[in-house]
Amino acid sequence: MKIDRALAPVGTLVTLSDRFEGDENPLGILSKGAVLIKDDEIVWVGKQDDVPSEFDLSEADIQDLSEDTVFPGFIDCHTHLVFGGSRANEFDMRVRGDSYLEILQAGGGINATVRMTREASFDELYDLGMRRLDAMLREGVTTVEAKSGYGLTLEGELRLLEVIQALNRDHVVDVVPTFLGAHTIPETFKTNPREYVDLVIHEMLPAVVERGLAEFCDIFCEEGVYDVETSREILEAARGRGLKLKVHADQLTASGGGRLAAELRATSAEHLEYLREEDIPAFKEAGTVAVLLPIAAMYLMMEKVPPVKSLLEQGVPVAFATDFNPGSAPCLSLLTTMTMAAILYRLPSDEVLRGVTVHAARAVGREARLGKVEAGFQADLAVFSVGDHRLVVTTFGGILPSRVMKRGRWASLSAPCEPIMTTL
Ligand code: NIG
Ligand code: FE
Repeated sequence: MKIDRALAPVGTLVTLSDRFEGDENPLGILSKGAVLIKDDEIVWVGKQDDVPSEFDLSEADIQDLSEDTVFPGFIDCHTHLVFGGSRANEFDMRVRGDSYLEILQAGGGINATVRMTREASFDELYDLGMRRLDAMLREGVTTVEAKSGYGLTLEGELRLLEVIQALNRDHVVDVVPTFLGAHTIPETFKTNPREYVDLVIHEMLPAVVERGLAEFCDIFCEEGVYDVETSREILEAARGRGLKLKVHADQLTASGGGRLAAELRATSAEHLEYLREEDIPAFKEAGTVAVLLPIAAMYLMMEKVPPVKSLLEQGVPVAFATDFNPGSAPCLSLLTTMTMAAILYRLPSDEVLRGVTVHAARAVGREARLGKVEAGFQADLAVFSVGDHRLVVTTFGGILPSRVMKRGRWASLSAPCEPIMTTL
């Protein structure tokens, strides 16, 4: 087979592949490794000296990365990528003591962003989205999940999902679309929330599915937002229409969203600060990924941390994501998130790296194709000029990849200077 590109030797190759993993080598790390690429796919991975002769490297672009560390491209598996405006004022309110839910109940929070997003044109939202993806790619992030949820009308939600579709089409980063029509109760339905639930189930969901605009359905299951029974109804309707499920669960109170996610065999449940110990076995049984969002917890100045040790001990896949949004996590940086996850949850860097590769791939339903450097996987790679792979997690800022490969091609990297948030 004619090889297009070969990375050989690679000083430290972090494969995350089961083939190379063992008790002594939990991340499947190879030194003096090699990666062979054909089109957009990895076709062989191993030690440089073991490259089989069936591969013809005569016309391959061969890169010597003997001083570098190569990872699978990182996956940000929970973001609210597309919105207009910003909410710097709420940060100050929270610092003074107002809670996130109080601000939301008073018409701020998600509903404030809904108003600002409605004022932004399709093109403005698209341009912001492209810049945000540029900033993420600059950090070695090659796949991003993106939720709607700031439209909260039929047209508004479809418009956001169409922006997400256009971003996925035009940006080199893969964008995985999630319908989050049940992000909160919109202001106009405050006195009759049931009517909004019916709108989500009977009008939005069919329209979203018919247009093929989402792979996942998510919901904010929380006291005073969507209770467990309503969440169940909406999620079951979504599953009935073929969408996979995610749940914003047990973030601010122990409202039971985590248990619901596992009961419904959701792909993932997110936040989980208040997840109860007794609900953890159900996660394992259902294969539900626990997606932890340390930046949101930090911004909301929460002291409670998810039961991360128990989750890991019981074999639940634990992923980490930015939760990028204008309120609880105005942070595009997955690298910063990785460092925060290690510190807040007292985790070794290996566990954090697993959480933004293999486990994050599972959280976006792409575990057969993404998150490992392995034959048959998409050639998405992040190359860092460091000799010790742990530096990428344990250094707070200042370390960026020297190269990023997406679908077998080196991506051009530019840090955006134009704003990633707008002021209305
Ligand atoms: O994941 N918890 C609900 N939703 C988002 C916040 C969105 C916002 O505040 O605009 C979250 O934290
Ligand atoms: Fe979120």
